[in-house]
Amino acid sequence: MSKKNSYKIALLDGDGIGPELMNEAVKVLDLVEARNNIKLELIHTPFGAQAYFDCGHPFPEQTKQICDDADAIIKGPIGLSHEASQKIPVDMQPERAALLPLRRRYDTYANFRPVSLPPGLAHFSPLKKSVIGDGIDMIMIRELVGGVYFGNKETGVNDQGLRYVVETLEYDEEQIRRILKVAFNVAQGRKKVLHNIHKSNVLKSSVLWNEVLSEVAKDYPDVEVRHLLVDAAATLLCLNPSQFDVMVMENMFGDILSDQGGGILGSLGLMPSACLGDQKAYYEPSHGSAPDIAGKNIANPYSMIGSVAMMLEYSLGMAAESKNVWQAMQSVFAQGYSTPDLSKPGSNVTMIKTNEFGDRVTDALAKAPSTVD
Ligand code: NAD
Ligand code: IPM
Ligand code: MN
Repeated sequence: MSKKNSYKIALLDGDGIGPELMNEAVKVLDLVEARNNIKLELIHTPFGAQAYFDCGHPFPEQTKQICDDADAIIKGPIGLSHEASQKIPVDMQPERAALLPLRRRYDTYANFRPVSLPPGLAHFSPLKKSVIGDGIDMIMIRELVGGVYFGNKETGVNDQGLRYVVETLEYDEEQIRRILKVAFNVAQGRKKVLHNIHKSNVLKSSVLWNEVLSEVAKDYPDVEVRHLLVDAAATLLCLNPSQFDVMVMENMFGDILSDQGGGILGSLGLMPSACLGDQKAYYEPSHGSAPDIAGKNIANPYSMIGSVAMMLEYSLGMAAESKNVWQAMQSVFAQGYSTPDLSKPGSNVTMIKTNEFGDRVTDALAKAPSTVD
């Protein structure tokens, strides 16, 4: 990645809590720009259910162009409540007609979902201290452009007059190899232990996945591979999460286990993510648009600001400033503040609103040492 002085960043506000979270991301981006003598051209553009209502498509042409031209993309969550979704034809719903096409367009096959609770935040976990010890620190690496999400789909009426559906879980060996290489590389840079999450006792796709894994593993003799069936992994995430450092899995397993990751942290609001392709990357919280709390200024923006921090590291080559952003967020928690998802009654945590969290983060970031060379 070449370091530049000026970047175009597409901002896809999304639905529900998306715009509220994006406001806080922008505060951080504006400050990062000012502190680092760079130009961040921030371009808001419609995406999601609101875009469908306003422009007739959840991923409008204009947004495609802006994203094509952008150095990086930051995306808020999209989607509506189950009931409200029914107002949009199935094939125009933003998950199918915007989010999956975004992932496919930029071939963002490597989804990094850190599940991390530094020691100072360990009390937020619903797990007992005896289970999580000093905190949680793992990264789930989810294949993001294959599997049942993108396989052939067919619906119809069969010979017996019954409605039926077929959805195909498809992978070719190259799709598997590239995500496994990413995971091995990450594991090599951390504790050199890679948990391979699969379901080879049932799925042929997992059998192929594991075959490819043993081929790739030959290039990483220093990385220990531990195989785990996905159902067992779900249990062990609750009973003994500290055994995990890097986990790799196919698309659907990663969707489900990463939300469980948010559960063991205490809130999905602590789940940022990076969606990385070889040419382009986009960044989004792992969670959805939270229709139950939208418009109330109470959503936790950590997931969104964390996604900005991941962008600084992976797309803009600003690792030191990225670290400053993480530390600024953690300092807000360390001072005893949180949004209500984590400040349960009687928890000794002072409840603050979404915008106040963002303000406190920028106050802390403004005091961090400059990273300008
Ligand atoms: P959700 O992730 O939106 O919400 C699950 C629970 O977590 C809710 O109680 C919500 O209030 C809470 N939560 C989520 N983010 C939070 C935050 N930042 N702060 C505090 N609490 C937070 O899941 P859902 O309700 O199943 O889905 C709602 C919509 O989001 C659906 O339309 C779904 O398709 C969509 N969705 C989109 C994405 C995405 O854009 N990548 C991801 C997941 C779900
Ligand atoms: C996520 C979401 C999406 C997924 C949906 C909204 C299509 O749940 O990013 O985790 O399943 O990938
Ligand atoms: Mn999900």
